[in-house]
Amino acid sequence: AAQTPRISTGTLPEADLVIRLLDEAHARFAGVEDGAVADYIPALASSDPAQFGLSIVGVHGARHSVGDAGVAFTIQSISKPFVFALMANELGHEKVRELLGVNNSGLPFDSVLAVELNPGRTANPMVNAGAIATTSLVPGADAAAKWEFVRAGLSRFAGRELAVDEEVYASESHSNARNEGIARLLEGYGRIYSDPIEATDIYTRQCSLLVTTEDLAVMSATLADGGVNPITQERVIDEDSCKRTLAVLATAGLYERSGEWLYEVGLPAKSGVSGGIITVIPGKGGLASFSPPLDDAGNSVRGTLATAYLSTTLGLNVF
Ligand code: DON
Repeated sequence: AAQTPRISTGTLPEADLVIRLLDEAHARFAGVEDGAVADYIPALASSDPAQFGLSIVGVHGARHSVGDAGVAFTIQSISKPFVFALMANELGHEKVRELLGVNNSGLPFDSVLAVELNPGRTANPMVNAGAIATTSLVPGADAAAKWEFVRAGLSRFAGRELAVDEEVYASESHSNARNEGIARLLEGYGRIYSDPIEATDIYTRQCSLLVTTEDLAVMSATLADGGVNPITQERVIDEDSCKRTLAVLATAGLYERSGEWLYEVGLPAKSGVSGGIITVIPGKGGLASFSPPLDDAGNSVRGTLATAYLSTTLGLNVF
């Protein structure tokens, strides 16, 4: 298929400045004590609230990190854009828009009401309903093959083989009534595309994949680079799927706070309840943060502050 030309908005500022500002962002916000660690998944409640890491990867392969950038944590909702990107790449952008939606729900990530109000449809692939529906589209003869498609696909974005945190997976599996309920509700509307409980289980596994901010920055830089991993040079998805994924992130990556995020940061991004955030700097690179305490929408407090600071000081805002 014909590829659209890559859109590049330039390069990251020079390495010395990036390193200095990463250090400054870390120092400036490490002492912020606001927010609370997620505890609705029991295994996440014991996360260390002091942890704070930042990583940036340029599309030409530059890599810089500060703080707890090598600490592994579960990817959670940050898996959603990558599974969506893989499915857009499989099915084409029109089909996934029709099946999953691409508008903001204006409601929290685990909202049941959002499905009812839509009506009977998922708002977008970044909220739990849309993400479970996205995973229900994954190809494979059985659950094991579908899971391997997801694990291998996310591993290509990261440039290394990712593995599940079995403790977090078991913990969320045993407290997963709400997600299973959402999947059953979607089944009632004909808006889930495989067995709802199987899809929820694969979705829960994908959320339990272990990553560091260094991994997430590479994954994010792959989205910044039109679908090519800047470290391995592998093309993971086509450029059109990449562009569509960034549009969905800008619209819904920070849930009902996506407008405020775009207003302050001006870049597509995705948060997760374990405290990670990825931010894509189109054509330039990927930024990732990790700090477990969250605001009331489920977004990392220090990660939000550090990303806004870096976007401003490094001149990354696309607007
Ligand atoms: O399904 C869930 O609730 C979690 N596995 C993921 C949710 C999440 O990360 C929302 N993020 N801020």
